[in-house]
Amino acid sequence: MDLKGKNALITGAGKGIGRALALALAKEGVRVGLVSRSVADLEQLASTISTQFQTKTSYAPADVSKRDEALAAYNHIKQDLGPLDILINNAGIASFGTVTQMPPEEWDRIIQVNLYGTYHMTYVALPDMIDRNSGSILNIASTAGERGFATGSAYCASKFAVLGFTESVLQEVRKNNIRVTALTPSTVNTELAANAGLKIGEEHRMLQPEDVAELALATLQLPERVFVKTAGIWTTNPQ
Ligand SMILES: NC(=O)c1ccc[n+]([C@@H]2O[C@H](COP(=O)([O-])OP(=O)(O)OC[C@H]3O[C@@H](n4cnc5c(N)ncnc54)[C@H](OP(=O)(O)O)[C@@H]3O)[C@@H](O)[C@H]2O)c1
Repeated sequence: MDLKGKNALITGAGKGIGRALALALAKEGVRVGLVSRSVADLEQLASTISTQFQTKTSYAPADVSKRDEALAAYNHIKQDLGPLDILINNAGIASFGTVTQMPPEEWDRIIQVNLYGTYHMTYVALPDMIDRNSGSILNIASTAGERGFATGSAYCASKFAVLGFTESVLQEVRKNNIRVTALTPSTVNTELAANAGLKIGEEHRMLQPEDVAELALATLQLPERVFVKTAGIWTTNPQ
């Protein structure tokens, strides 16, 4: 499927995987709507895209864990670009600690951003996709959504939930020709991974945000009659 001229909204677009997704889609001629909390990141990315690619951008600072902010960002981007063809729920945070060590507020926050952020944006975007009888939703989950590990209770619970949410929504809306996909990367070389203390090793041997974006693009470019349900992407030979 040719993505040129399609409209996409990407959450967590300011950095890391979201930024790489925005650049990869813009390169294909997709009109990209950018959402994250830091307006400086969004401005910088929108300006880079306008300089490098012949496509339209829109951006809206928002905390996707808050439903009213998610709705306002969605409406702003829809007004600028037109109805959405692609929603990428990528915004996420991570920190690790045992159940008893991690402050409950931090545990709550991880669930609110990773799970509720995905839910809120899907909730606001789906009705228009159903009305138009088409659309693609891509949720960025994680290998942490497939297996638990010590200190990962909040992050793993959020990502297991994103996978359950993805599968339920896809069963609801595939009859509306809407494709719903979850990607499950292992550790990616981003600020999130570095700040959470995950092992990066030599950069050139490590999964990069651009690699995840390439997989996302490939799934979106499949013919509309098919979709990838879940796809993992791993570093070949981690250190
Ligand atoms: N890096 C990894 O190893 C890895 C592996 C598997 C899956 N993932 C998943 O991939 C996604 C992207 O992660 P990343 O590694 O690219 O992280 P990153 O480099 O830290 O970027 C995260 C982006 O999300 C935004 N964001 C955070 N909280 C937000 C909120 N409440 N509302 C709106 N935007 C928010 C951040 O901007 P602001 O702070 O300005 O809002 C930033 O632009 C996450 O869902 C993560 O769980 C990451």
